Amino acid sequence: MSARSAAAPRNAGILAAQQWPTNAALIADVHRLGYITDDDLVVDVTYGRGGFWHQYRPANLVAHDLRLDGVDFRQLPEADGSVDVVVFDPPYVPQGGRTTSTVDDFIDRYGLVDDAPSTHDKLFELIAAGLAEARRIVRPEGYVLVKCQTFKHGERLHDMPAAIKRRGERIGLRLEDQLTMVRTPGPTNRTSFVAARRNTSELLVLQLRPRSRALSLSDIEAAGYEAR
Ligand SMILES: C[S@@+](CC[C@H](N)C(=O)[O-])C[C@H]1O[C@@H](n2cnc3c(N)ncnc32)[C@H](O)[C@@H]1O
Repeated sequence: MSARSAAAPRNAGILAAQQWPTNAALIADVHRLGYITDDDLVVDVTYGRGGFWHQYRPANLVAHDLRLDGVDFRQLPEADGSVDVVVFDPPYVPQGGRTTSTVDDFIDRYGLVDDAPSTHDKLFELIAAGLAEARRIVRPEGYVLVKCQTFKHGERLHDMPAAIKRRGERIGLRLEDQLTMVRTPGPTNRTSFVAARRNTSELLVLQLRPRSRALSLSDIEAAGYEAR
């Protein structure tokens, strides 16, 4: 466990919006910014193929994923307040949200689950439950890093990062930083669009407020899934 202020310069000159070529490059900058330090116990609850850790890999990294060790991010084995940094890269678009999805893409987003959320509300419910678990296991002043993005589903634009920030705030996770990853979108057969094509994703750096008390099940239930 380590203190960020002692480990990193406050401003490493890293821009908040960039064309990071990969998530691994993004995470390497998160490390340079000091949100992950070398002594930290880091738990990646959606490890997937481990793509976040190809450049920087902390010595104390625990990997969970439904399709890796069967651990559901809604029910983590870690004790309350025992982790310095939780990394959460949940499924990012409801099932059927992208006409260009391939089977591989689908599995990368959802893992081997047959109950992948089919609506924005169900996806948010899943993510909110994971966020509550991340909040339970992170220590006061520790970080929860959430990767997410706005997306079109049906005719509507859904601002998932905003919904996650609001929910985080309600359960003691304060927005400390936000890194916007800009990418060049691939080719498409579509000739018309009802809105701007989405080509950004967000890495939210949420910090558990100091002296936050342990979150009971009734607190989580009281936060409800309806308020976004
Ligand atoms: C966007 S991908 C994460 C990709 C990962 N960061 C990587 O670099 O490969 C989402 C991951 O969440 C996992 N997942 C989906 N639902 C889950 C759940 N309820 N509990 C745990 N993992 C889940 C999927 O298996 C998938 O690997």
